[in-house]
Amino acid sequence: MFPVHRYRRLRKNETIRRMVRETSISPDDFIHPLFVTFGKGVRKEISSMPGCYQESVDEIVKNAKEIHSLGIPSIILFGIPEHKDELGSGAYDENGVVQDAVKAVKDAVPDLYVITDVCMCEYTSHGHCGLIEKGVVDNDKTLKLLAMEALSHVRAGADMVAPSDMMDGRISAIRAALDGEGFANIPIMSYAVKYASAFYGPFREAAESTPQFGDRRSYQMDPANRREAAKEVALDIAEGADIVMVKPALSYLDIISDIKASYGVPLAAYNVSGEYSLVKAAGKMGWIDESRVMMEILLSIKRAGADLILTYFAKDAAKILVG
Ligand code: PBG
Repeated sequence: MFPVHRYRRLRKNETIRRMVRETSISPDDFIHPLFVTFGKGVRKEISSMPGCYQESVDEIVKNAKEIHSLGIPSIILFGIPEHKDELGSGAYDENGVVQDAVKAVKDAVPDLYVITDVCMCEYTSHGHCGLIEKGVVDNDKTLKLLAMEALSHVRAGADMVAPSDMMDGRISAIRAALDGEGFANIPIMSYAVKYASAFYGPFREAAESTPQFGDRRSYQMDPANRREAAKEVALDIAEGADIVMVKPALSYLDIISDIKASYGVPLAAYNVSGEYSLVKAAGKMGWIDESRVMMEILLSIKRAGADLILTYFAKDAAKILVG
C-alpha cells in the first residue's frame, strides 16, 4: 500500500526499465512475407502496402539476401502466377513461381528458412481458396490439390509449409502426402485460427486474389468466435500441425493469449496487410509516430503470447532492433 509501495521507483530511468522489462522482441521472432511474380527484373510496389512489392524471382533473391543480413531468420512466400484457371493449376506446377523462387532462394541464401503459403486463392480464376463445385468451395476435393501444392513446394526445397486455405482436414491430408513421399521431417505451420477479416484487403490487391463472387465466410472463421478457436487448434495439433497460427493478430490478441495459455506448441501470429497499411497511412499523414507505433504493435503481439510474428514490418523493425 502507498506510501510503502511506489511503482515509479522501477520506472526511473532506461537502465532499470530494461532490467525489469517482461517482454522483448528480436529479429529472431520475425517471418517476412514476400510476393513472387513471373517475369524478370520486376519490382512493382503494392499501392496499398507502401514498402512491399510484387517481385520476380531474381528480385526476391536480392530481397532475401537483405532480409537474411538483417538477422531475420525466415520468409514466407506467396505466388502470383502468370495464368489463373478454375483448378488453380499454377499452385502445384513444379515450375510455378513459388517453386522457382524456393529453389533460387535456397541456392543463394541456404541459411534463410523458407516457408511457403499453401492455398489455392492466388491461383484460381475465381479467387476462392479451393475447388468450386455447384457454386461452393468443395472441401474434400480441394484437399488433394492442397497436398499436391505442398508436395511441389517441398520438392523444390521449402523448409516448411503453411496451409492457409481453411479447409477441414487439410493438415492430415498434407501430413500424409509429405510422409508418403519421404518428407516426414518437414514441419507444418497451420493457419489454424484464421478469421474472415476485412484486414486482408490490401493483401488481396498484392496477391490479386479477391474472390470474384461471394466471400470467404463459408470457410474462414466468424470474428465473433472465441471458443471455436480452441477447437480449431486442438484439431490441427491432433492432425499433426507443428506450429499453429492466429490471424489477424491485432484485433485477436485475446485469442493469441488463450491459445498460448492452453497449448504447448509454438504459436505464430500474422500481423496482416490491413494492420500494416493503417500504420503506414497514418504515418504518411503525420498523424502518428510510425516507428514507435510499429514497435508497440509488435511488442503487444509478443506480449499476448506469440512466439513468431509474420509481419511486413520485419525489415523496418529489425533495423531498429539491431541499431
Ligand atoms: C490466402 C491468404 C490470405 C492472407 C494470407 N494467406 C488472404 C485471404 O485469406 O484472403 C492474408 C495476409 C494479409 O492480409 O497480410 N488464403
